[in-house]
Amino acid sequence: MKKNKIYIKSYGCQMNVYDSNRILDLFKNQNYEITDEPREANLVVLNTCHIREKAAEKVYSDIGRINKLKKDYPKDNFKLVVAGCVAQAEGEEIKLRAPSVDFIVGPQSYHKLPDMLKKDDSIISDDFTQNDKFKNLIYNSTGGVSEFVSIQEGCDKFCSFCVVPYTRGPEFSRPVKEIVNEIEKYLSQGVKEIIFLGQNVNAYHGFGEDGKTKDLAYLINRVSELEKLKRIRYMTSHPIDMTDTLIKTHKSNSKLMPFLHLPIQSGSNRVLKDMNRRHDVDFYKKIVEKLRNERSDIALSSDFIVGYPGETDKDFDDTMNFVNEVNFVIAYSFIYSQRPGTPAQKKDNISLSDKKARLSALQSLLKEQQKNYNKSFVGKKMEVLFEKKGRHTDQFIGRSIYNQSVFINSEANLINKITDVKIINSTDFALESFA
Ligand code: SAH
Ligand code: SF4
Ligand code: F3S
Repeated sequence: MKKNKIYIKSYGCQMNVYDSNRILDLFKNQNYEITDEPREANLVVLNTCHIREKAAEKVYSDIGRINKLKKDYPKDNFKLVVAGCVAQAEGEEIKLRAPSVDFIVGPQSYHKLPDMLKKDDSIISDDFTQNDKFKNLIYNSTGGVSEFVSIQEGCDKFCSFCVVPYTRGPEFSRPVKEIVNEIEKYLSQGVKEIIFLGQNVNAYHGFGEDGKTKDLAYLINRVSELEKLKRIRYMTSHPIDMTDTLIKTHKSNSKLMPFLHLPIQSGSNRVLKDMNRRHDVDFYKKIVEKLRNERSDIALSSDFIVGYPGETDKDFDDTMNFVNEVNFVIAYSFIYSQRPGTPAQKKDNISLSDKKARLSALQSLLKEQQKNYNKSFVGKKMEVLFEKKGRHTDQFIGRSIYNQSVFINSEANLINKITDVKIINSTDFALESFA
């Protein structure tokens, strides 16, 4: 009998990648082989993202490409699945626009996929069944040294521009014990670092082993008791949930890495208010100050949206001034994208050329900060966890405690090792430990 093969493509955030890993685990358990070649697969899963228009539209062109492959390489029993946040938001529309899609599953119900395929009846599954989902998933390491662990799902914040509360549903935190079990499994498979994931990861409030609600600081301290675990990171955090206890954990827990991704979106109080972010610029600066008081070397990262409806030149200047003041080691910036069903959708009123000009100015500033930050490590020693081979012979790539990529040449295999290396060169995006 010919072997079943699955191909999966992730379009979105780390959580979307985590879901893809779990979908692969579910089908490995059904004796599927994994392939990187869509034309070899008889099960193709597109695990989609709805956050910006471009990401969402890409799905339809990819469906067209898969249909062509299907014609050129006909296979028995071929199935095309659209999973993820577009599936959740536009399930019915996908069915109408792309009748070749066999199954549609949202991010909180994909555990049902193997069953749906077997029964071949219900086509759409888009319930918010977080609790059921985590109980029915299979958890195996992807084979690397670092593993994502989803601890919190969904979002109750409803920022005016964002689809996540609609695509991922209400906030849900997994119980501590379930998370510890998952991590222990990865550690037994050689993993050294875990990255806790959640759309609002610092709003984590899962049940502890004693039946009482626990916060993220507790969870970090609890899992750091696991001896084989060497490094802990978490993302993405919201400023209003950045508690003093969590800030202090950055000092007291040596396994917690000195890096924090803390999106602000804009440096203008007026825009923040309109975005329903629920805090102002000073509130954010105060968190930065507290963090730096506890851990002076903490590396800060953020997200920004430019061209939000009604953003004036003055608002944008405020963002630039804010970035200059805080100094980020890396940050991601996006042009505002109008999303269906969100409150900001109705008012998009800034020209694309203005949006592009602002994005380019902000990105140059952020790149300059990142470059200078990386440069400041040249000549210094730093601790690196090596993850994989590089493109060149004898080259290895790892991560510094501040989450920078570090390249080194070595004849000895460094993968899965934590070593101090001396930084010789820096580039805009990485550090090099060779001349
Ligand atoms: N939960 C996180 C991030 C969610 S999405 C948070 O609270 O910040 C990741 C990033 O995508 C956001 O931080 C934001 O910068 C960007 N984003 C979300 N919706 C967007 C939209 N409609 N247009 C452009 N960028 C968007
Ligand atoms: Fe989206 Fe805001 Fe929730 Fe983040 S906090 S996922 S930006 S609604
Ligand atoms: Fe995209 Fe869904 Fe993540 S919309 S960013 S895949 S939560």
